[in-house]
Amino acid sequence: MADREKIPVAALNPVPAAAGVQGVTLLGATGSIGASTLDVITRHPERFRVAALTAQTRVTELAALCVTHRPALAVIGDPAREATLRELLQRAGSTTRVSSGPDGLLEAAQLAQAQTVVAAIVGAAGLLPTLAAARAGKRLLLANKEAIVCAGSLLLEAVRAGGAPLLPVDSEHNAVHQCLSGAATHAGVRRLVLTASGGPFRQRTDFTGVTPEEACAHPNWRMGPKISVDSATLMNKGLEVIEASWLFGMPRDRIDVVVHPQSVIHSMVEFGDGSVLAQMGTPDMRTPIAYCLGFPERIDSGSASLDFTRLGPLHFEAPDLDRFPCLGLAYRALDAGPAASILLNASNEVAVEAFLDGRLPFAAIAGVISEVLDSESPAAPASVDGVLEIDAAARRRARQAVARTAPGRS
Ligand SMILES: NC(=O)c1ccc[n+]([C@@H]2O[C@H](COP(=O)([O-])OP(=O)(O)OC[C@H]3O[C@@H](n4cnc5c(N)ncnc54)[C@H](OP(=O)(O)O)[C@@H]3O)[C@@H](O)[C@H]2O)c1
Repeated sequence: MADREKIPVAALNPVPAAAGVQGVTLLGATGSIGASTLDVITRHPERFRVAALTAQTRVTELAALCVTHRPALAVIGDPAREATLRELLQRAGSTTRVSSGPDGLLEAAQLAQAQTVVAAIVGAAGLLPTLAAARAGKRLLLANKEAIVCAGSLLLEAVRAGGAPLLPVDSEHNAVHQCLSGAATHAGVRRLVLTASGGPFRQRTDFTGVTPEEACAHPNWRMGPKISVDSATLMNKGLEVIEASWLFGMPRDRIDVVVHPQSVIHSMVEFGDGSVLAQMGTPDMRTPIAYCLGFPERIDSGSASLDFTRLGPLHFEAPDLDRFPCLGLAYRALDAGPAASILLNASNEVAVEAFLDGRLPFAAIAGVISEVLDSESPAAPASVDGVLEIDAAARRRARQAVARTAPGRS
């Protein structure tokens, strides 16, 4: 396994300018990142064509996207919905080929017609297709942070072996990538500063009775339900600290988190000479997506310009680890090593799903994760199978913890 400290800053293979029309496969096309990506692609028909689209359950939405974007391949993760997808596309006169299940997702990730793969599946479910795309030498646009949290070393090795670049879509890592442009190693970097909006509960002190609707009502970003809850607990920032440690080869003590409620500074890099570079813009995921799709060129994203005259003061504060213990749990997992990050991610996914289903109180999410971190201490996995084994064991433990925490609700 590669040593995190020895990975140079953003040394994720050189990025040549893309020649001709790029085929783009979108894993997780029906989600929030999927919609933003298709919006940017549609603005540049001379640069991009959609090669494959995937979803898990939303078959009607996937069929509609296929009619509009005419990919060569459409994959529905749930095999039970393949017949419906086939029928919907046939009825619409579409020539898109249909596949399903885990093998279908792997096929989409490696499809010859695509030079670029946008990894936008939510959760560890995205790990195998993301790894497959990297190994197949696709230019990888990584939104699926859980994949790198679970298997950072394996994913970066796959990117190196595949020989194509990885570009971070997550707005914070994208901001760091922009600020580091031109830096060859992290030798000249003093620290990374990841900004956090603070989520919908930045000023809340009592978390009793929090509903999924409240937790998903993010003040600045429109995102899928899982990442919205992660933003409300600050686990999202914890996952991003782990993601940054892999992507930029940075130890934890050189990655700071600062709460910045306006979300116009997407993150910063402080250099050894004291200079701090910040990347700014309106909170709109089309900006980092367009940066990655066009890199090294800048292309139009459709986002609004930042109006400095109406912006008002920008605020910064330290995160409150007492009210938001999930961030502290992520630090603990990062310090404990790669296996602990898998435990953290898997138990968080189980707890968030239980909260969204009404089976676990919001305030109990951190307790479930903490219990799993306390009870399991596997060695660092040497293979993807090892990652999946630790993930499965953590999920079993987390489900038990959920059932014990809220017995009447499961
Ligand atoms: N949204 C943002 O602004 C944002 C920003 C930074 C990073 N990210 C990261 O990007 C990823 C996607 O986030 P999102 O907000 O776009 O999520 P989302 O809106 O929930 O969309 C998730 C996508 O993944 C598919 N999917 C769900 N479970 C799957 C499974 N088991 N196998 C295969 N596909 C599956 C969904 O298909 P169905 O629609 O059929 O369920 C959907 O297409 C996450 O890792 C998130 O952390 C998101």
